[in-house]
Order: sequence, then structure tokens, then C-alpha cells
Amino acid sequence: MHPDAATRHEWRLLLAARPALAALLLGGRAAVPLRRVPRLGWVSADPLVAREVLTDHRSFTLLGEGGVGHLWAQVLGDWVYDLFDGAGHHDLRTRARDLFTEATAAALVRGAWSQRLAQAREALAAGETVDVADLARVLVGRMLASLLGLGDLDDDRARALFATGERLAATALGSAADTTLTPAAVAGAKAIVDDLTRGVPDAWAHAGPETLLGRCRALGLGLRETTGLSALLMVAGTETAASAMGRTVALLHDTGAQHRLLADPAALPDAVREGLRVTTPAPVIGRSVRRDVTVAGRRLRAGERIVLLTWTANTAPGGFDLDRPYLPENRQLWFGAGRHLCLGAPLARAELGALLEAVTAAGRPWTVVRRAPARRALVPTYRELSVRIA
Ligand code: HEM
Repeated sequence: MHPDAATRHEWRLLLAARPALAALLLGGRAAVPLRRVPRLGWVSADPLVAREVLTDHRSFTLLGEGGVGHLWAQVLGDWVYDLFDGAGHHDLRTRARDLFTEATAAALVRGAWSQRLAQAREALAAGETVDVADLARVLVGRMLASLLGLGDLDDDRARALFATGERLAATALGSAADTTLTPAAVAGAKAIVDDLTRGVPDAWAHAGPETLLGRCRALGLGLRETTGLSALLMVAGTETAASAMGRTVALLHDTGAQHRLLADPAALPDAVREGLRVTTPAPVIGRSVRRDVTVAGRRLRAGERIVLLTWTANTAPGGFDLDRPYLPENRQLWFGAGRHLCLGAPLARAELGALLEAVTAAGRPWTVVRRAPARRALVPTYRELSVRIA
């Protein structure tokens, strides 16, 4: 295969983030429907197998060794087990159903971003160089502050908040092979969570129902659940969202699809969907096998692990293409599937859409002036993506 320029740029991001991850995702193409790999356990890059595993809650869990629940229970406490996968999870998801709808997500983005995005639009229209990767981190930092009740932040404080969320997520670095944390990692992560959620008790008690934390209270979520959920939002919705934002702006440029989008702004939802598919910012999802089960003709045993290569499954149909129809097999596998399907999906889509709207607002194409990948990152992403409108 001779990858095109856009694909090569994406591969470089994977490689810079973690060479082992790039090898797994690219080499994992052969893991269809399912393969056994030494040290990793079962591996699959098949979208149908991935959905089967993610929706079979009786046979697979994220609480065991190899799942994020196991990871976070060490940081947040054993009550996480119930909140992540037990009856508490069902209750939380039922109550939280309306936390992020298309409408609330749009309102959150407007509230936290409109001023900063207007500034970026003006800078781009004036022909200034804008680092979209940095802009994405600033915007996501502002969103975090707004979700966590930490107020309105200037760019530097938004960057610092983003970096703190990133440090917390870094706790999970290397967890593809092992989710047992060292005592030092647990202590470090605990300190970060305490710091980041310091505004939660007050906002939970006093904030109005138009805020996320006020809504948590109104939905009947206790302070502990609200604090846990806040920590989760921070980890799940920080680097993933910023990564999709920078990379989709690059993909629109590298594939030339920006010209189509500029001529037809109604294609924006397609750009958002394709951007999420091709980047799949959470590139692997891990589960442990809860009970013996047969998948794609292979016998999986209780206690074993399975790694789903969602990036590999989502990119197999081909590169970024605004004309690509909806792919029923992949659906929205970039947000997972089943009971843990991304809670913030509407917010992530609204965030990406708002950034693309700002970048295309001038109606003229942009060029990439400079780009650099993030090295040793949990989520493959651009450290810098400086663009300019001619
Ligand atoms: C492009 C951006 C995003 C991507 C690709 C993404 C992807 C995912 C994926 C794949 C999962 C499932 C993990 C699993 O099954 O083990 C997940 C779960 C989750 N995401 Fe997202 N996410 C994004 C943005 C966000 C945002 C912005 C938020 C909220 C602010 C968020 C909050 C969550 C939460 C709370 C969960 C856990 C849900 C549960 O376990 O029930 N995510 N996300």
C-alpha cells in the first residue's frame, strides 16, 4: 500500500505518540476477526467483533485487569466499581442521559467558547498564523473549567488546566499491557483529582440548573458520584477532543477536502463524522473476559483480556472523504458501543463542529505553515498545527 500524504501525516502522529501503539494499530490489520497475541491477549480489529464484545456486558467487563475501571478504582476508590459497571453505572447513565444532548452541548460550546472562537476567526480572516493545536487545547481547557465550575479562564490558565487533565490521563500510559498502577502513580493521580475537583462541592451545592454540576444535583446525583463523574469527564474528554480538532483541520487540508467544505458548508456534519472516524482519538478499547465465551469461533476464557483496535477497524474502509456514506458496520465505533458508549459524544461533535465552522468562516482555504506531532502522548495528536489563510 502507498499511503497518501494525509495518511502519512496521521501515521506519523501515531508513531510519535508511542511506537508500540503505531505497531499495534498498523500491524493489527491482520487481527480480523480475532487473534491471540503474546503479552496482550486477544486482539481484534474487526468492527463487528468490537461491537459484539462492547455490547456483551455479561461476558466482558472494564472492571477487571485490562480495563479502565480497574485503573480508576485504584485512584478514586473501590466505589468506582459500582459506578463504572454495576447497578450504580446503570443508575448514573440513566440520570445522566440528558447531561449532554445536542441542545445542551451546543449551549455549553456557545457559553464557553463563542468569545474565544470569534477572536480566532478574526485572526484567521486577517491572515495571521494560528496554531490550531494550541487553540484546541485552550478551548478544551475553557470547556473543562466551565464543566467543573472553575469559572472563565484566560488562555494561559486554560492551557494549564488542559495540561493537568493530560497529566491525569497520563496515569493510563502503558495501560494497554497492564492496568495495575504503582503506589506513586496512584498518589500522584489522587492529588491531581483532588486539585481539579476542588470547585465541585461548592458548585454542586449552589450552582444553578443551567450549569453541568447544578444539573447533576438536580438529577439526584450525590456529591461523590458528581465528583467521580467530573474526574471522568476530565480524563475522557480532554485529549480526545483536542486531538480530533487539530487532526481534522489537518486532514481537510491534506486531502484537499477543505475546498469542498468551503464551497458547501452543509457538508460540515460529514466533515465532523469523517474526522472522528479517521482520527479515532481513543484508538484502542480494552476489556477483560468475565466468563468463558465464544467469539468469532474462538473460545475466550474468564480472566483473559481483549484489546479492540478501534482505530484500525475505523480506518480500514479508507481515508478521509466527505462523500463517504455512513458505514453501518462501524457506526460510531470511535465513541465505543454498548453501555459505556461515550457520554460526551454530543459535546465532542459540537466542539469539533464549532472549531471547523470558525476555521472555514472566512470562506477561503488555509495552508499549513508548520506542524509537529506530540511525542510520548497518550492520545496521538499535534503539538503544533499552525495554519494561515492566504
Ligand atoms: C473526540 C472526542 C472523544 C472521543 C473519541 C471519545 C471516545 C470515547 C470512548 C471510545 C469511550 C468508551 C470507552 C470504553 O468503552 O472503554 C468513551 C467513554 C466516555 N467518554 Fe468519551 N470521547 C470523546 C470526548 C468526550 C467528551 C468531550 C466527554 C465529556 C466531557 C467524554 C466523556 C466520556 C465519559 C464520561 C465516558 C465513560 C462512559 C461510561 O463508561 O459509561 N468523552 N469516550
